[in-house]
Amino acid sequence: MLQIAPSFGRIGEENAFAVLARAGALAAQGRDIVNLGIGQPDFPTPPHIVEAGIKALRDGHHGYTPAIGLPPLREAVARDIQRRHGVEVSPDAVMIVPGGKVTMFMAILMFGEPGAEILYPDPGFPIYRSMIEFTGATPVPVPIREANGFAFSAQETLALITERTRLLIVNSPANPTGGVTPKAEIDALVTGLAGHPGVAVLSDEIYGTMTYDGQAHVSLLAYPEIRDRLIYLDGASKTYAMTGWRLGWSVWPKPLYDAARKLAVNSFSCVNAATQWAGVAALDGPQDCVAAMVAEFDRRRGLVVDGLNALPNVSCVTPRGAFYAFPNVVRTGWKAKALAAALLDEAGVAVIGGPDFGVHGEGYLRLSYANSAENITRALERIGRFLAVRRPD
Ligand SMILES: Cc1ncc(COP(=O)(O)O)c(C=O)c1O
Repeated sequence: MLQIAPSFGRIGEENAFAVLARAGALAAQGRDIVNLGIGQPDFPTPPHIVEAGIKALRDGHHGYTPAIGLPPLREAVARDIQRRHGVEVSPDAVMIVPGGKVTMFMAILMFGEPGAEILYPDPGFPIYRSMIEFTGATPVPVPIREANGFAFSAQETLALITERTRLLIVNSPANPTGGVTPKAEIDALVTGLAGHPGVAVLSDEIYGTMTYDGQAHVSLLAYPEIRDRLIYLDGASKTYAMTGWRLGWSVWPKPLYDAARKLAVNSFSCVNAATQWAGVAALDGPQDCVAAMVAEFDRRRGLVVDGLNALPNVSCVTPRGAFYAFPNVVRTGWKAKALAAALLDEAGVAVIGGPDFGVHGEGYLRLSYANSAENITRALERIGRFLAVRRPD
């Protein structure tokens, strides 16, 4: 009888991948499925980035790179941070990793252990809680509330800190809600953190280029008072439509950098070289491709929010970032996961039930509007027809 470590009994999953598989299986049976479940841009990676990857392979970049990443890419990340956030970061503080997820994996492994508490947003990206539980640490959900426009509350967050808190995870713009936390709230959080010098902060800013209504993204890197305990998470997946390339980067405070480097050496060795050169082209190249994608998401955002608010018993707060809408479906009488399952099986629309993002997600669905306007319209029509005739289970 094989005996694997008990920690594997505690590791979770990302249900979006299960929904993707189920939607794929139904499509393979000939069903017409509109997939608003998966959180990835529906655009191809911009051609100049693809060409840079191909050129790197043709030029013979086939071997290992330094575990922390190629110097030109770490320098390009530092320039990107300077350009976007107006903050000076040394390329020596930058680490290149295979996707945004890897930074959270490393940070949670570093601070998680039995007896430690880690605060994370709920509803939030499901891997936060999964990894916290894997390490044996106690997950402490920070409720993210619709009444607050799905921004986090500094006061509520700070009130949950105890002497056992080691790490606080924040995410703005947020998955799954599309919430963007205003600068005043981030200011208040940082001010309050001065009273808790032993708490590290992981700021997941993977959607940092995707804010709407003229609202600028506020990076936690812009607060020098917490730089010595801030782990900044970003990457190419969403901004440059590069989810399958596996390219992310992080900025680490000096005392943590070497621990992160050792995790890299012990696990993935380095990100594949061609992807890193593509990353240099992405960050140093023209940024109008990003602006064009964000403008298109913005247009679809209007479509999806208006469409959802026109449905019976559904209401949707306007998301201010990322590419997700998080409508409230309580008044339909359905439990959110049952509704998501029935929409897929009976109406051919893939969405994710809010509870897949935490207990505070009950009563909500997540729809990704990283899909064509035509598909969004078809999905909304189908959901409307479904809700008009189908009584809750
Ligand atoms: C909030 C958040 N952080 C991180 C990630 C991970 O991104 P990557 O695909 O680069 O690992 C995602 C992906 O969906 C996300 O939504």
